[in-house]
Amino acid sequence: LSFAAGVASAQDYPTRPIAITVPFAAGGPTDTVARTVADAMAKHLPGANIVVENTAGAGGTIGVGKVARAKADGYSLLVFHIGMATAPSLYRKLQYDPLEDFEFIGMINEVPMTIMVKNDLPARNMTELVPYLKANASKVTLANAGIGAASHLCGLMFQSAIGQELVTVPYKGTAPAMADLMGGQVDLLCDQTTNTTPQIKAGKVKAVAITSPKRIPSLPDLPTMIEQGHKDFDISIWHGMYAPKGTPKPVIDKLVAALQKALEDENLNKRFADLGATTVSKDRATPEALRKHLAAEIDRWRPVIQKAGVYAD
Ligand code: MLT
Repeated sequence: LSFAAGVASAQDYPTRPIAITVPFAAGGPTDTVARTVADAMAKHLPGANIVVENTAGAGGTIGVGKVARAKADGYSLLVFHIGMATAPSLYRKLQYDPLEDFEFIGMINEVPMTIMVKNDLPARNMTELVPYLKANASKVTLANAGIGAASHLCGLMFQSAIGQELVTVPYKGTAPAMADLMGGQVDLLCDQTTNTTPQIKAGKVKAVAITSPKRIPSLPDLPTMIEQGHKDFDISIWHGMYAPKGTPKPVIDKLVAALQKALEDENLNKRFADLGATTVSKDRATPEALRKHLAAEIDRWRPVIQKAGVYAD
């Protein structure tokens, strides 16, 4: 009976609202990606109402753990970024196994990051910024969204690139961190272009570098870290969509099809492009591609993080 009921419910799916957990504060970069995808996917899942829930804290790991333990019925999903791959190397006790505790739906997009300073900090580029940071290291504050956040990872790479440790200030997401950077309460932040492009264009913060190997069309005047002499500085944040392990295959199949159609949506692509993000090609918006990418990224970042010697409990 329960098997038959399961098959029937997979055929009818969805019959009630689907919740996508974003493991950071509302209004930030992960939230922007999740809401944009949710709106586009809802058009391709008849009757679907997709809502985004923000469960912030511990660099995203609290929200991810919540989804790992949620009922595997297709009504609890997760959108998360590169932190899915870095947390296993950063946390001594992680409440989930990223490769074992989830069903994979697909990759979504890739997003470069911007290194920014508050407007009245006296530096416009890396040549001016590095000596300022070295001279003021004990009082300069670098914001991030907690250990495991993309901003945390970029901050580690930045401190290693300039050979200077800075005082870090954790937030529950980079939406509140950006607000404090604009208000001048913190000095420095590295955050995804999906959150920073409008504020950079409006002159509310000063961007000094982009973290991709090449400049991007939406911020064409912003030089790369590589151009400014930091030759290995290359970080792009990628997003994926997940469901708890055991979510029925017919449900996953419907979600994969809806995700792939959503990623062809003109409005979604324009919004992502305006914010500096690149939508992945259809062959990467698959469970297999996401699983493979996640496994490769776990291996890629482990030695980098071990070298940085940063751990959380
Ligand atoms: C957010 O949504 O707040 C960010 O993705 C946080 C981060 O990882 O830096």
